[in-house]
Formats: sequence, C-alpha cells, structure tokens
Amino acid sequence: MILVYPGSFDPITNGHLDIITRAVYICDKLIVAVGSNEAKKPAFSVEERIDLIKCTLGERDDIMVTSFSGLLADFVKKVGAKAVIKGLRAMSDFEYEFQMALLNKNLEPDMETLFMMTSVNYSYLSSSAVKEIAKNGGNIEGLVPECIREKVMKKLACR
Ligand code: COA
Repeated sequence: MILVYPGSFDPITNGHLDIITRAVYICDKLIVAVGSNEAKKPAFSVEERIDLIKCTLGERDDIMVTSFSGLLADFVKKVGAKAVIKGLRAMSDFEYEFQMALLNKNLEPDMETLFMMTSVNYSYLSSSAVKEIAKNGGNIEGLVPECIREKVMKKLACR
C-alpha cells in the first residue's frame, strides 16, 4: 500500500518526523509530499523544504520525497495511492482536518484520509513556532531533526 503524507513542512519538525517514522511501518511506500497552503507565506522554498526532509531521512527505498501543486486529491490519484495520512495534534487540528478530509472525499471518493495522533512530546509543536523561536535567536534543539538545526537557524536568523 502506498500512503501519501502531505504537508507544508516549512520546515520539517520532530513532530513530522515522528509521524513519518511510525507511518512507514504501516505501508509499503510512504510518499512525503510538500505542497502549498495558499493561506501561508512560506519561509523556505519548496526545494529547500525537500532538501531539509531528504537530509533528515537519507536515502530510503520505502520513502519518496517530492512536491505537488494543485489539489491533493489529484496528486494522490496520479501516484496511485489510496490514502493520505495526517498527524493530529489536538482538538484544534480536528475541525480543519475534518473539513479537508471531507472536501478531498468529495473530490475523490476512493481516497481515504487516515489520522495518526502526534506523540505527546510534539503535541505543542508547529513549524511556525520553530520559525519564531529561530528568528529571535532562541534554541530549537529537540524541536527539529538535529541534522538540519544549523541550516534552519542560519536561514531564519538573518531574516
Ligand atoms: N507534530 C507537530 N506539528 C505538526 C505535525 C506533527 N505531527 N503535523 C503537522 N504539524 C504542524 C505543521 O508544522 C504546521 O504548522 P504551521 O501551521 O505552523 O505551519 C501545521 O501543523 C499544519 O500543517 P500541515 O500538516 O503541513 O498542513 P497544512 O495545513 O499546511 O496543509 C497541504 C498543507 C499542502 C497538505 C494542504 O494545504 C493541501 O492539501 N493543499 C493542496 C490543495 C488542496 O487539495 N486543498 C484541499 C481541498 S480545498
């Protein structure tokens, strides 16, 4: 089974990594798909976000990292996946994710959206929080994968 894990990943955090690490066990191939949320102004380009994810995960046969534009439902169909997986942090995520899942189901009735509860350690985490801390010179240790910490700090500290 192919699963798509979509997100903005601006940048990837340890919360995303937690979902990736667990999701890969329940599928044959996980496609980590960097998309754009029209409501957000990203700090990292799509290429930079992909590089940070690849740098975190290394080369793996069971994970593919790519980007998509347009509708998630179209992308999922194009890659031959049946389902997407998303992390749920708290009740605040639920309403938005519920709406997205229903909209996607309406667009592509064969597509399922699966939810995985984010580990409790990361339930407070978000890419925006990481960016705000880094921009202000704070410590993002433990919030993003260690191998990308310097890159994230370098990019954001000079903004
Ligand atoms: N742990 C900690 N934080 C997590 C997390 C986890 N497991 N999973 C997500 N988050 C955070 C992210 O860092 C992000 O933080 P931010 O808001 O500060 O950036 C937030 O939760 C939600 O981000 P994400 O899961 O990346 O979703 P998104 O709302 O940015 O959606 C797309 C991105 C690309 C998946 C979505 O916009 C999309 O599907 N776009 C295509 C258009 C489309 O088909 N729309 C639907 C039909 S209208």
